[in-house]
Amino acid sequence: MSTEFTFKVLATDGKARRGEITMPRGTIRTPAFMPVGTGGTVKTMYMDQVRDLGADIILGNTYHLMLRPGAERVARLGGLHEFARWPHPILTDSGGFQVMSLSKLRKITEKGVTFRSHIDGAPYEMSPERSIEIQGLLDSDIQMQLDECTALPAKEREIERAMELSLRWADRCKTAFGDQPGKAMFGIVQGGDNARLRERSAQSLASLGLKGYAVGGLAVGEPQDVMLDMLDVTCPELPADKPRYLMGVGTPDDIVKSVARGIDMFDCVMPTRAGRHGLAYTRRGKVNLRNARHADDHRPLDEESDCPAARDYSRAYLHHLVRSQEALGAMLLTWNNLSYYQSLMQGLRDAIEQGRYAEHVAEVSEGWARGDI
Ligand code: GUN
Repeated sequence: MSTEFTFKVLATDGKARRGEITMPRGTIRTPAFMPVGTGGTVKTMYMDQVRDLGADIILGNTYHLMLRPGAERVARLGGLHEFARWPHPILTDSGGFQVMSLSKLRKITEKGVTFRSHIDGAPYEMSPERSIEIQGLLDSDIQMQLDECTALPAKEREIERAMELSLRWADRCKTAFGDQPGKAMFGIVQGGDNARLRERSAQSLASLGLKGYAVGGLAVGEPQDVMLDMLDVTCPELPADKPRYLMGVGTPDDIVKSVARGIDMFDCVMPTRAGRHGLAYTRRGKVNLRNARHADDHRPLDEESDCPAARDYSRAYLHHLVRSQEALGAMLLTWNNLSYYQSLMQGLRDAIEQGRYAEHVAEVSEGWARGDI
């Protein structure tokens, strides 16, 4: 097993890339989807199931874990991999984004961010250096810089201020992270919906010579074509030999269109959160199991799927579980959804290797458009 963090592009088809990140805890096949394991659990799933579906890496959150059970405690208990029983790579988000969306009384200064916990109101301070320290205590394999993400729509002045602050924090995070050959610290491109600011952010980050680059501040209220336009201007400014991670995205359609523009990694709560709300992602699009039309339907979600949740349970039973708010309903639908996302990614990887990405995406999209029944 490799002692270093490395990234190799194995094949390309247009701008889409099939690659491999190798590091001591394992290899990540890209394009990759990272299930979200916010508080040390991919909600409703056993880690063995997550792994068996084909996930090479999961995501954890600095913000949630620092509040509960606490980063120092996780470190004393052997680190996040041991604590959560996931021995494979973990990427942790830095906390800035979650502070802005979840905590109360937050304030951002040059030094960092101060906020009150959404759990008990306790005050916290997080600097770029403390974010990296926490991610180190968790023993995260891919750590993210602390950044400030601007909610859209926003004034250009405001987007620019947050983008410039994020660049200065990237530099501080790089210094705090230092030289850790088997791990990586990724910078985060900001710049809202402004092409000029996106280019400047990407160029400045690239000059820091980081091991990977994320695109942040997207899927925050803007239409999909704005997000894709931002990827069109950002990706060419990022080094071709480093992984590119689009944060918090997205729907299956967002993913296939972003891979086509050169993105290698994704994370999103959509498959897990939707699963807990009675929604299933399938080859035929999204299916709402709450709907009364499923009450007498003996068919499974997808008889051709390898996933027992999709193949072995009737829609009538899933409908019953969802309507009765049974835990098993959320478990089966999350299992189905993560299975669908991982099989989507496997299909994209195969298609890039075969040089038929556009044809493959046309087929996949045709299935979504055809609809469920
Ligand atoms: N998750 C989704 N978007 C973002 C972002 O812009 N920054 C961070 N840190 N996390 C994110």
